[in-house]
Formats: sequence, structure tokens, C-alpha cells
Amino acid sequence: MSDSVFPVPAEVAARAHVDNAKYLEMYQRSVEDPDGFWGEHGKRIDWIKPYSRIKNTSYDYHNVSIKWYEDGTLNVSANCVDRHLEKRGDQPAIIWEGDDPSESKIITYKQLHHEVNKFANVLHGQGVKKGDRVTIYLPMIPEAAYAMLACARIGAVHSIVFGGFSPDSLAQRIEGCKSECVITADEGLRGGRKVPLKANVDKAVEKAPVKSVIVVNRTGGDVAMKAGRDVWYHEEADRVSDHCAPVEMNAEDPLFILYTSGSTGQPKGVVHTSGGYLVYASMTHEYVFDYHEGDVYWCTADVGWVTGHSYIVYGPLANGATTLMFEGVPTYPGPGRFWEVCDKHNVNIFYTAPTAIRALMGAGNEHVTGTSRKSLRLLGSVGEPINPEAWNWYYNVVGEKRCPIVDTWWQTETGGILITPLPGATDLKPGSATRPFFGVQPAIVDAEGKFLEGAVEGNLVIKDSWPGQMRTVYGDHERFVQTYFATYKGLYFTGDGCRRDEDGYYWITGRVDDVINVSGHRMGTAEVESALVAHPKVSEAAVVGYPHDIKGQGIYAYVTLMEGEEPSDELKKELVKHVRAEIGPIASPDLIQFAPGLPKTRSGKIMRRILRKIAEDSFDSLGDTSTLADPAVVDELIDNRQNR
Ligand code: WT7
Repeated sequence: MSDSVFPVPAEVAARAHVDNAKYLEMYQRSVEDPDGFWGEHGKRIDWIKPYSRIKNTSYDYHNVSIKWYEDGTLNVSANCVDRHLEKRGDQPAIIWEGDDPSESKIITYKQLHHEVNKFANVLHGQGVKKGDRVTIYLPMIPEAAYAMLACARIGAVHSIVFGGFSPDSLAQRIEGCKSECVITADEGLRGGRKVPLKANVDKAVEKAPVKSVIVVNRTGGDVAMKAGRDVWYHEEADRVSDHCAPVEMNAEDPLFILYTSGSTGQPKGVVHTSGGYLVYASMTHEYVFDYHEGDVYWCTADVGWVTGHSYIVYGPLANGATTLMFEGVPTYPGPGRFWEVCDKHNVNIFYTAPTAIRALMGAGNEHVTGTSRKSLRLLGSVGEPINPEAWNWYYNVVGEKRCPIVDTWWQTETGGILITPLPGATDLKPGSATRPFFGVQPAIVDAEGKFLEGAVEGNLVIKDSWPGQMRTVYGDHERFVQTYFATYKGLYFTGDGCRRDEDGYYWITGRVDDVINVSGHRMGTAEVESALVAHPKVSEAAVVGYPHDIKGQGIYAYVTLMEGEEPSDELKKELVKHVRAEIGPIASPDLIQFAPGLPKTRSGKIMRRILRKIAEDSFDSLGDTSTLADPAVVDELIDNRQNR
């Protein structure tokens, strides 16, 4: 069966930064002469002291070390703010659209400069210095961007924790990077509902004490303020000047830490540094979205995820773009909200996740066709594989066959997009992330690490470094090496499965490790399991993913109860509540099956492969069950399988 192909429309190629010939030429140079290529493109940002060294990286298992532009110095906030003042001071930097459709505001580059300087001085006032870690737990309000850029301005390292995480998860992340300052808001507002952010922080800092909590007034809700520790942002901001000189930072000084789930243990603090990250985020933003001066660009992610870091804040602002920041959710007050916002602010480039597309597709076309969307020129997708049905709907109904779709594959670890179409260069195939970005060398290996050539399926690795790559796991370089460079020595292992077709296009098939992707959010099954076994009635738990119409994958939990405990629907609800409280709503199990026994090998290892198959309904392909200690448990599990 041949895949349908959507050739690049001539008018798209004509206005794009690169057409196919240019892509091929640039790509070849980028891998043959990385120093030449990245030496030239590194100049897209402003350096205080120019670099003389460019790429200095080693994937050698015994000595993993990644440095780019290592003798250059810069300030990321100056690049995202100050350098635009002269040319586009009065241009909108941020268009903020509130949860409530009646609320929106525009922040020009001049205003952004004022706000970031103020915020930086407030941080100084709280004793935050260069190198300190600052935890940000904010809703999608402009202050989130001000706070990030203020940290960058004074050389502090931010660690953003998504507002949907529980107090325990927040405490773990505050402790993990030893931050002494937390920035939050009284409450968040999403889909008309209030999120008790400050109250969550209060609980978190009981476990992980900090010196200062800066509270932004978002809703005016009633919150407790502890004297000597908690301050209102607006009161502090009133007292400080709006001038704060950007600190000179080395290219390899950390810019931020972002926690992400893996297949084992606690979330890892992914460390990104300043120079290479900004070059890569800004360059991918310009080329992948074919950004041109004056475009209005909207990425619907939350700044709590890497997509928000690279493609709401750092990439677009480094490019002097107008970036739209949305506080709400796709379905509030109705399922037409995205398209109404596109019309209201004349959005040209729109970037969202397949899970949102599927949810809106289910709500009916009339919510889309009732809007104009004439401003839209390009659509993007990120976070999980996009199924061809959703792709076609996005293309035909939302984009009216006019807007190319860039299906961008990347990870928290990669800092920016690695595999993606370029709108003026790449013919599209629904469901394929297509070809590598400049400097990126993907390869497919088998379980033993042997390179597979041609049209094949296997595990996706990257052969050499690019400037946006993570540098280490915060405080645990060995874990960085073990997680990404030990499986296939000398290669960066992505954790994804992938197929390459006869045209050399890449098709991501999903995670091959114990990580599941729920609505484009990464969840380690081990984390959900440890939350479940922390419940007093649970003796053992095994968690796997299963196909879910909207979420991509749902969370399926097999739970063995303590001796004497009775399974019940009440207990299921209690367990869901428990996991929400331990990790956050994004980790809520969709289906719980009480299992008197789990399939184990004679040495006691849970055979997840079998559990995955049962959850997926593929009973015929359970594979070899002869090594099971007690093969009868499998029949019991199949008989009691939970219906989706
Ligand atoms: C994992 C990374 C990086 C943005 C948000 C997610 C999956 C991401 C795609 C895509 C197929 C994708 C992969 C990857 N993924 N984008 N376009 N097609 N799969 O970041 O939380 O670090 O998750 O998301 O499985 O490994 P993340």
C-alpha cells in the first residue's frame, strides 16, 4: 500500500526560506562540516564575546561530554528582549489570551523589556543570584515568560513545574534541584475552574522548605501569606527599578532544568545550557514554521513542558516574533475556541498536539467551519504520533487544504525539533515526521545495536550531537550516560521505535521503553506504580499503556490487593484519587483491573509484554508464556480484562 503524498504547493515553496534543493544542500553541509555550518548559524544570535570553538562533543560511552560554542558569552534575555528594542520596540512580543474570551492583552517588546527588568530586580531583592535555581509554578500568564527571562537575565536557572502537578511532585522537584525560591500565583484559571497553586506550594514547601515564595496576583483569591517567606509580586515590583543589566553568561552555563519522566526511578532533571540551546531553538522556529517578520505565531502548549520553553518563549522571542500565549483549554467556553482565537488575533502559524486535534475532531466540524481561519498559513503537530485520520481532518477541515502540516518529532532532551518537514521543501505524508533537520543524523538500529539500512523498522538513535541537546541530568551525570548512551554505545538512544520508508522518511511508532505518552505527556509507568503501591490496600501494581481514542495512550493499571482487602468500584475511585494526589491529574489511571496474581517469570520479574498485550486486546499474540511461574494467571487476567 502506498502512502498518500502531499507535494509542496508552488506558492509555499516560493515564499519559504528553503526549497528542496536548498534543504538538501544545507543538510549535507551541516553533517559534513558541522563546525562550518554551526559556526555560521551561531551568528543568528548576539554574543557578548564571540566564540572561537564551535562543536566539542563526545558520545564515547566512557566520556560523554557535550559542549557547543564553549568560549562564547551571551545573555539569553538580552537576545530575546533588548536586541529587538530598536527595530521593533512597539511590535507585540506577546499576545496574551485569557481563559475567559473577554480577557486578552498585548505586550510590546518595550513593555516586555520593562517587565523582565522589574522581575529580575524582584528576584535580586529576594536574594537570588547567578547560578541559583528558581522553581516556577505558574499558570499561563505573561508573568511566566517574564519570570523565565528574568532568571536568564540574572543568570539564575529556572525549573518550571507544570501547574497540574501535585504538591508532592512539586516538592520532589524543588528538592531535586535545591531551589530556595518558588514563583507562583494565588490561583490558576483553566476552563473556568480555579487551580489552587499557592495552596499547593504551601503544602510542597512543608516538605521542601524554601527561603522565599513570590506570589503573582492572578485571580485575587484568598491565600495564606507567611511573613518573612511569602511576598506579593506586585508589591515588590512597585519598589524596584526597571533597569537590570543582563549578566554575561558562558555558552555552557545552564539556562534551565526541566524534569521529565523516564522508564525507571524518579523524574530526571534535564539540563539545557544557554548558547547552543538558543541557536537551535531560534533556528528551528524560523525554518520549521517558516517564520517571517510580522507573522503571528501560536503554540498552544503550556510553559510547563519543553514545547512551551522552546516554542512559546525562547525560539520565537529570540527571533523577534509575536508569540501568542493562551491561558485556557481547547474546549472552553466551547470547542470552537482555538479557531475563534485564530480569527481574533489573526494567527498565521498554529502549533498544537494530536490529542487536542482528536478531541476537537470529535466535537463536530461546525465549530471549525463557523470561523474564518483565513489568516492561517501553516499548521504544526507535536507530542505523539499523529494518526492519519486526525492529520487529514486537520489538513482538510482546519487548514482547508491550504496549510502544510509540520509534524515535528523531538523530546525534552533534544531541546528543539529534530525530525520534521520544512514547509517549502518537504512533500508531506500523513503520520510521518519525514526528514531530519540540519545537523541531525538519525539512524535505526536493531536490538543488538546493528545499523539497519533502507526501508526498515527498529529503534531510533541519533549518531552525533546538535547544539540544542541536553548536557546532563542535574546532579547525576552518570544517570545521563546510562539512560541515553549505554543501550547502544556511541549513540544517543531516543527510547522511540521508528520505521524508515523507501523515500527515507521517518515514521515514529511510539516508545519502546516503559514510558507511556498520555495526551502528549510523558509518564513513567514506574512512577504510577510506586504511587499505587504507596496506598495501604495495594500490595503490587503493574502499569501499561493501551490505545485511547483521544489521549493516544491511556493508563491501564493491574493492581493486586493486600490479603483480606476486597475489590470494589469504590476502591477503584479511591485509587484514582490517590494517584492524582500523589502525582497529579495527568497520571490518573483510566482503567484499573484487580488482579489476584501478575504474570511473572520464575525469577519473579513481571512480564510486562504480556500485560501490554492484554491491555491492547491482542490476546492471540501473547508470545511465549512458557517461562511463566504460573501460566494460569494469564487466563484469569484475560477473563477479567477491563473494557475501554
Ligand atoms: C516523546 C517525547 C517534544 C515535545 C513534546 C513531548 C513523542 C513527540 C512526536 C511526533 C511521534 C512524538 C516521542 C518522544 N513524540 N513528538 N511528532 N511524532 N511521537 O516531549 O514529553 O519529552 O516526549 O514524545 O515518543 O520520545 P516529551
